Amino acid sequence: MYYVNPYIRDCVRVFPEQGRYGCKRYDMNENPEGLPKEFVDRVLGEITPEFLATYPEPDPFLEKYAAHIGMKKENLCATNGSDMALRFILEVFAREGGDVVTVAPSFEMYWVNCSMLGLCHVPVDLEPDFTVPVEKLLAAVTEKADVVAILNPNNPVGRGYSLEEGRRLARKARECGAILLVDEAYHYFQRETLLPLVEEFDNVVVMRTFSKVFSLASLRLGVAISNPTLISYLKKATPSFEVNAVALLFGERILEEPEMLEELIQKEAEGKAYAVETLREKGYEAFAEAGNFIFVRPKGSIPELKERLNRRGVLVKSYGNRLLKDYLRISTGSREAMERYIKEFLEAEEE
Ligand SMILES: Cc1ncc(COP(=O)(O)O)c(C=O)c1O
Repeated sequence: MYYVNPYIRDCVRVFPEQGRYGCKRYDMNENPEGLPKEFVDRVLGEITPEFLATYPEPDPFLEKYAAHIGMKKENLCATNGSDMALRFILEVFAREGGDVVTVAPSFEMYWVNCSMLGLCHVPVDLEPDFTVPVEKLLAAVTEKADVVAILNPNNPVGRGYSLEEGRRLARKARECGAILLVDEAYHYFQRETLLPLVEEFDNVVVMRTFSKVFSLASLRLGVAISNPTLISYLKKATPSFEVNAVALLFGERILEEPEMLEELIQKEAEGKAYAVETLREKGYEAFAEAGNFIFVRPKGSIPELKERLNRRGVLVKSYGNRLLKDYLRISTGSREAMERYIKEFLEAEEE
């Protein structure tokens, strides 16, 4: 009989829905509309047969990203989405059976990767008022911990961490011989960052993605940021050509247009404020967190409403867990994108 890695065999996966093209996508925290068409056409115009025939070279992108965050390219490792940065970090810095401490509920790939790699996921529950339990997180970090992962700002709910809280977590992780992983997928929707910890501590890795505000989820581009030593270990774990050339080209060009980035941030903020305000005016409990999403508590049954929205081609996210089971999570975009959502939502509620 052939061998199957038992961790992979026993891992429970729920794969993303198919058939989402053409739908009104408010379920996966993508930008519902995407980048300006003129920009996309311009960058696509640079793609020649020779470009496609050549293996990708990440350095020009890394140089630009390093300048964007005030660091050096030796501080960076580009990955196929931050999903893969997470995988490499766990593969490199966690040993079989070691603890990976995270807040719960959280981005599902934390526990999926732990399950695939034979790591022990230690979830620390958010408080009932959705606050992030820093003291409980600190208490959960013991000698068994290899990685402590925090989301800054937190996803699906919760604020970010102050620099001082980050320092306490990095210090405790270091005392226990663990890495502090700071997932900043939703950076730009909240500007406070824990990036300075990379220079203050030798055990901190920050992850960023181009799937959210940069609106390039399809291309799969993420970045791990750390000191050159940790980055050198991560790079050894990657394939020779981890990120494709089209993703690197788009990443590079987007970084050359800071005004476009500011506009994307601004538009999302306007759309989010509009959506929360309008839903509240209509009598709904609605709240926004630091990411590109909001929560709304529908009046009727969530599975039935979701079904009605799906029939209209409107995709939203619901949760099974205790804290969030009464809410829908709606990805946010421009005011126009949110007007379209609210219209469909109110009609589906009435149906
Ligand atoms: C908190 C968090 N981290 C990481 C990711 C992965 O993003 P990507 O692999 O698209 O870079 C997501 C995706 O939604 C996320 O919510």
